[in-house]
Amino acid sequence: MRDLITYIVFGWYPYLCLTVFLLGSWVRFDREQYTWRSGSSQLLRRRQLTWGSNLFHVGILIIFLGHFVGLLTPTAVFDALGISHTFKQWLAIIAGGVAGVMCFVGITLLVHRRLFDARIRTTSSFGDIAILLLLYAQLVLGLGTIFVSLQHLDGHEMVKFMTWAQGILTLQPGVSALIADVHPIFKAHLFLGMTIFLVFPFTRLVHVWSAPVWYLGRRGYQIVRSQGRLSASATSSQRRGAARTISAEYPR
Ligand code: HEM
Repeated sequence: MRDLITYIVFGWYPYLCLTVFLLGSWVRFDREQYTWRSGSSQLLRRRQLTWGSNLFHVGILIIFLGHFVGLLTPTAVFDALGISHTFKQWLAIIAGGVAGVMCFVGITLLVHRRLFDARIRTTSSFGDIAILLLLYAQLVLGLGTIFVSLQHLDGHEMVKFMTWAQGILTLQPGVSALIADVHPIFKAHLFLGMTIFLVFPFTRLVHVWSAPVWYLGRRGYQIVRSQGRLSASATSSQRRGAARTISAEYPR
């Protein structure tokens, strides 16, 4: 029974999450482009946002890069480069730990702002709050793994996670067996991490796909409602203004 649960959660669930992540993002981009944004609340309480957002984003970008390279680079490449498993484990702990703490301070400010500023709370959807709390929980679990990793500095547990992640991406669900005996905090971190992929297309996280490349080149837009046709007596400058406003509806 235990083997079956491990197989479902770490061998099958990742494919469900990845499929929803890719298809869901595609469908949302295709059908709901005006909701494809980070939903900034910058106009309200800016200073706390600046600190919180900057620390959070720098931290999470370093974590993302570390996870991506750390989990998906084949072990043979590290071996060929002469990077030992112990060294890599220390690197994950130190670089990931520093970035994790930055991210933690940032997200704490963001959570505080979103939950305790009445105006921001009112303008936040359930999804805005839920995804923030989900990332918060994931970050706390991630930081918690450091204390377990410190007990196996030879990196053998880390190699299990690399083999698992690479096995999943190369369509080998049987690699789930590697996760059967790892510490529960790793299991919780992996499960929640996959769940973030699952809910990704339904949240403001979709802006991760576009930022920063698309955002930098994007023209601003404002959605306006037409108040009916201009009367025949409208001046030419009124007509030009109306034309400009309506063209601003279309960002591209
Ligand atoms: C599917 C998504 C994710 C997977 C599979 C994953 C996997 C892992 C693994 C295996 C470790 C342990 C590395 C080691 O010590 O050997 C780890 C550590 C960590 N994770 Fe994640 N993680 C995911 C998402 C996240 C997210 C979204 C965050 C932040 C919000 C995060 C934050 C951390 C932190 C701070 C650590 C400790 C430092 C480090 O080792 O980098 N993780 N994660």
